[in-house]
Formats: sequence, C-alpha cells, structure tokens
Amino acid sequence: MGIRLKFNLVLVAVGATGVGLFALISGPYLREQAREEVLVRSRIMMASAAGIRNYTSEEIAPLLSETNKGKFHPQAVSSYAAMKNFSVLHAEFPNYSYREAALNPTNPADRATESEVDIISDFRASPAKQELVSERETHLGRVLYLSRPLVATENCLICHDVPDRAPPDMVTKYGRQNGFGWKLNEVIGAQIVSVPMAVPLANAASSLNLFLLQLGAVFALLMVLINLLLRSSIIQPILQMARVAGDVSMGKPNVEEYVKSGSDEVASLSASLNRMKRSLDEAMKLLNAKQK
Ligand code: HEC
Repeated sequence: MGIRLKFNLVLVAVGATGVGLFALISGPYLREQAREEVLVRSRIMMASAAGIRNYTSEEIAPLLSETNKGKFHPQAVSSYAAMKNFSVLHAEFPNYSYREAALNPTNPADRATESEVDIISDFRASPAKQELVSERETHLGRVLYLSRPLVATENCLICHDVPDRAPPDMVTKYGRQNGFGWKLNEVIGAQIVSVPMAVPLANAASSLNLFLLQLGAVFALLMVLINLLLRSSIIQPILQMARVAGDVSMGKPNVEEYVKSGSDEVASLSASLNRMKRSLDEAMKLLNAKQK
C-alpha cells in the first residue's frame, strides 16, 4: 500500500467519523431547538387565550349583563371569545389552531375529536397534571400540541349544570341536550393549542445539511492540500532518490544527483544520499585504479 493511499485512507476515515459524529450530535440538538421554538410559540398562544378569557369574564361579561339587563350573549362567554379570536388568527395562519374541546360540549363544533378525547382522558386520570405537550403526524406534517385542562368551577355551573339553572336565552339558542351535567371540579375538556413543526424542523434539517456540507468541504480541501504537500515534499523526492540509488546500485556510470531544495528532513536525506554517492564514486575509482 502506497504512502499516499495510507494517508488518504486515514483522512477519509477521520473525515467520515467527524461528519458522522457531527450529524449524530447536532441533528438531535437542532431538532430539539426547533421543538423549543415551537413550544414557546404555543405558550404565547396559550397565554393570549388566557388573556382573552380573563378579559371577557372580568370586563365584558359584567358590562354586557348590565347593559342588556341580564340577557344572554355568547359574546360574554370566555370560551366563545377565546375561540372567536383564534378563528381570526387561524384564517391568516391556517396551520395554527386553538380549541376548547369538551367531552360534552354546548356547541357541537367543540366536541373533542378522538385524539382530543385521549388528551382529556389523560388529564382526568391525573388531576395534578397542568400541562401536556404532545406531537403528532398530520396531513400538514408534524404538529405540536400544548394542552391544559379545563376544570368546572362553581361559576361555570351557572350555565353548565342543568338547563333550568342556565340563562333561558342560552337554552333557547343551544338547546337542553348539550353542555349540561358538568360536575364541580371535573375536568370537562381541554384548551388545545396546535402549532405546526414542519417549517422549523425543515429549517433545522437544512441548517444541519449546511453545516455538514461545510465540514465536508473543509475535509475535502484538507485532503487536496495534504495530497499536494505529500506529492511535492515526500513522494516525488523519494521516487527520485530511489531512482538515483537504484541506478547507482546497478553500477550505471555518471548517474545524475538529485538535489531536494529546502531545509526539511527529506532535503537533508537527499544531501546525505548525494554525499554517500560521491563517497561510493571515489571508492569505486580507487578500486578501479588499484585493479589496473
Ligand atoms: C354565561 C354562561 C356560561 C358560563 C358562566 C360558562 N360557560 Fe362555558 N359555554 C357557554 C356557552 C353558551 C358555550 C358555547 C359557546 C359557543 O358557541 O362556542 C360555552 C362553551 C364552553 C366550552 C367549549 C365547549 C363547549 O361546551 O362548546 C368550554 C370548554 C366551556 N364553555 C367551559 C367553561 C368553563 C370552564 C366555565 C367556567 C370557568 C364556563 N364555561 C362558564 C356558557 C357559559
């Protein structure tokens, strides 16, 4: 195996290991960063939903009930306000959504889907759990879900206990069948924010590819430079010296010396070889003269 092949094999092995290790360590790291970014977006959405809910129940509901003499308006319902607000956002960013899904909803549009039922059941099974983060593959690509439980408090039961206790206007509008019979302190549903991960994940993947490409390019450049250096500083001079030594050993007359310029180890070897060749020439001359 030639020296060049040995060097190149080592370089390729180091390069491949380096690129592989980088991909192995940085890939999951970049993916985690993308997930964190999506999680922060979901938390911001959740916080703004909480803001809308509070604002509606604390400022809008009392105002509406005052001016409308107790007449019921869904606009005063926090859940309605939060979902209406997010439907505007959803129109502009179709992949982002906010839902208040319930197992027994007042508005049938809020009935929990199969995966939402799983989330709500999870909260029901562990009442101490205040948040759930999950990911799912959808037709829009991977989506992150941030969920929080919705618990029925005394205030909620005014409208969600039995139809006779609820505002008559509400019962007229929504009927007597849905959204009643909720129990105090029961997890009746969940706030679920969904944020697409496809774009941040694709960005993480392309960043990784870019880094790998740069790393690969640096290794390739290193290989080219080391090969050039090997050729000019070691391989060519050694071949030349081997040719001179071969010719001398074969007893060829007037073999031309090879002088490697510079002050490196190979140059000093070529100088030594030339001195040895000259000594050998002298010795041969003396030997020949003696024989005559
Ligand atoms: C003034 C009556 C009223 C009160 C008080 C009330 N809600 Fe509602 N709630 C409604 C109505 C009406 C809807 C249906 C709104 C719509 O059309 O989307 C609703 C919808 C919801 C929804 C969406 C699922 C569904 O049933 O359609 C959730 C979740 C919800 N309410 C939870 C609560 C919680 C939790 C409380 C107490 C903190 C509460 N509600 C208090 C009237 C009320």
